[in-house]
Amino acid sequence: MANTITEITPQQLDTEQFISDKVKEIKDVVGDGTAINALSGGVDSSAVTLLGHRALGTQLRTVFVENGLMREGEAEQVVGFFRELGVEVEVVDAREEFFAALKGVTDPEEKREAVTQTFYKDVFGRLVKDSGARHLLQGTILTDVDETVAGIKRQHNVFAQLGIDPQEAFGYHIIEPLIQLRKDGVRRVGKALGLQAELFERIPFPGPALAARVIGEVTSDRVETVRKATTIVERTLKDTNAFQYMAILHEDRVTGMCDGRREFGQQIELRCWDSVDARTATPTELPFETLRGMADEIISNVPGVVSVTYNIATKPPSTIEAI
Ligand code: XMP
Repeated sequence: MANTITEITPQQLDTEQFISDKVKEIKDVVGDGTAINALSGGVDSSAVTLLGHRALGTQLRTVFVENGLMREGEAEQVVGFFRELGVEVEVVDAREEFFAALKGVTDPEEKREAVTQTFYKDVFGRLVKDSGARHLLQGTILTDVDETVAGIKRQHNVFAQLGIDPQEAFGYHIIEPLIQLRKDGVRRVGKALGLQAELFERIPFPGPALAARVIGEVTSDRVETVRKATTIVERTLKDTNAFQYMAILHEDRVTGMCDGRREFGQQIELRCWDSVDARTATPTELPFETLRGMADEIISNVPGVVSVTYNIATKPPSTIEAI
């Protein structure tokens, strides 16, 4: 499978020129029709939302899909940030559909596929059908394509390179204005579009969201466990300048002590990465007291967790996420 997309490197990127070229391209493709896009609050989907609104104004409908897999308070926060920028975001509650699709699924790629199908086919299929939109605008970037083409990990938002025609599979056309850029380029475009620093400086967060951080079956209880640990990790490490950090809930249980009783409890793995573009990464040398602080806080606040570990392997052969 060849990747024929031409990269725009950070040295080549002229943000103003890029924005005006993409605004024109989006206008040309959509014409006087309507488009829809999903905003997760990540750098890529945030940049695409602003680019799309600059091109299409009210011809673009932006939705935040509440899939039950997002971090604490995420929907409210993202809707609030975009309201400040004059963009109204609609929240669509699809929690039940996602958990139903994930029921009993434990294989990593099947999990991604369940999230992908629910998102593109069920939730978006319906929204597009109901709204009469013909186009879905999305923030695929070159790293998503590379990793999918190389067979490392199938990113949830890559189709054309896998020979999937979205029009045929889902009934709508996908526009990908950021596909020639990598994360650093997208951050610069986001900044130039007026995105708040809180959004364009955010650490990457995967499309399958916390489903990528639960090893084994993804249930709403297990997501809640990893969500609570994630809040602690993100708050503790926000000023470290690390590329990405996370909590992962393991499937294996280990014996621990809870209230003086033996409990076969849950394990949380912490990861914190130094990286430039996610293609390679090394674990951040966090002070031991920082690690201990997070472990204590997680054990005290996340019910059922009796073990906390820190990953010290590099990527490769590890990957940034655990699934
Ligand atoms: P890995 O785990 O492959 O991650 O080393 C590289 C970067 O990609 C993110 N990631 C994903 N993003 N859908 C996404 O949108 C996915 O399925 C997915 N898997 C990993 C990961 O967080 C990291 O920044």
